[in-house]
Amino acid sequence: MPQSNIEQKIRGHLANVQAYTPVDPPELLAQQAGIPESEIIKLNGNENPYGPSPAAADAVANVPLHIYPDPLQRKMRQALSEYTGADVPSIIAGAGSDELIDLLFRLFIEPGDRILDFDPTFAMYAFCARVAGGTVELIQRDELFDIDMDALRDSVDEKTKIIFVSSPNNPTGNLVNEQKVEELLDTGLVVVIDEAYYEFCNQTVANLVPKHDNLVVLRTMSKWAGLAGLRVGYGIMSPELVDHIIDIKSPYNVNVAAEAALLASLEDAPALLGNVAKIVSERDRLNAVLEDMPGITPWPSEGNFILCQLANSEEASRVYEALASRGIFVRNFGSERLQDTFRVAIGTPDQTDAFIAALKEILK
Ligand SMILES: Cc1ncc(COP(=O)(O)O)c(C=O)c1O
Repeated sequence: MPQSNIEQKIRGHLANVQAYTPVDPPELLAQQAGIPESEIIKLNGNENPYGPSPAAADAVANVPLHIYPDPLQRKMRQALSEYTGADVPSIIAGAGSDELIDLLFRLFIEPGDRILDFDPTFAMYAFCARVAGGTVELIQRDELFDIDMDALRDSVDEKTKIIFVSSPNNPTGNLVNEQKVEELLDTGLVVVIDEAYYEFCNQTVANLVPKHDNLVVLRTMSKWAGLAGLRVGYGIMSPELVDHIIDIKSPYNVNVAAEAALLASLEDAPALLGNVAKIVSERDRLNAVLEDMPGITPWPSEGNFILCQLANSEEASRVYEALASRGIFVRNFGSERLQDTFRVAIGTPDQTDAFIAALKEILK
């Protein structure tokens, strides 16, 4: 067989690209802990412990699987318009909001362009930027994890194209205020506000979209509607931008099962928002317990997770490992700023009780 030197054909910036660190599936976690899968408590993916709406599960079971989905997503965009109050032409759905993040990079970023990211934050922005050949500028958040506007202004140059802000921020849990979003928009750069956890805080800047064609608001059905496994999210932005995304997306990007589940979930929104209320009250209960626990400090959170601060990185690793050995999985981070923390997703009351009992034992 002739030598193809396949490695050398790979685009230079992708040959050794730093990959995203995803969470492992439950069966692997169970194997690691040496316990049956049914016994693990998975709090590492900010997933919804109550699962999807039964109506969504029914809809998925009954959807014809042999027909391609509507490339223009008419039914989904109509239903999302009714749910969000945004106009249909301002809405576009993706295979998870992850896909929309990637599409925004494809649309705006040429190799060498700069992306501004407020660190620590959701790692997908920097990952997609690297894949697109962009340069990521990580602007450090301040001591309360707020975004630093002076550092931002110093950092913008003619190569800067996009600013990403997650609000509430994953993993720190805090919101960006509307005035700061207005200031970001005034830079004229593309400003993406990722509201993946919107339903847990009811704070949005989607109302600013009609006034600012450089604003993109991202949302997802993964968290509040329990559809993480089906991969469906959406964006709210100017109709012109939606049209450009339609032009470059793969035509059938959201599959028929995800489409059916989204439609059924939006019809069943009151029940799903009831689950959100349970998660929020559980978050507040866990936060109060953690505040009284020696050796650990919770960061206030507006999402379905809490960032927990330990004394130092060794202690954070010890607690992380000790939880994992008991079958309780939380999320740790490799970055210097977060090495003394872990993030725990809010589970059911029973899961919270198990997490608290394990922590008490580990920290005593
Ligand atoms: C801030 C943020 N944005 C987007 C996502 C991804 O959402 P989706 O499942 O819709 O791709 C997550 C998932 O954890 C997230 O935390």
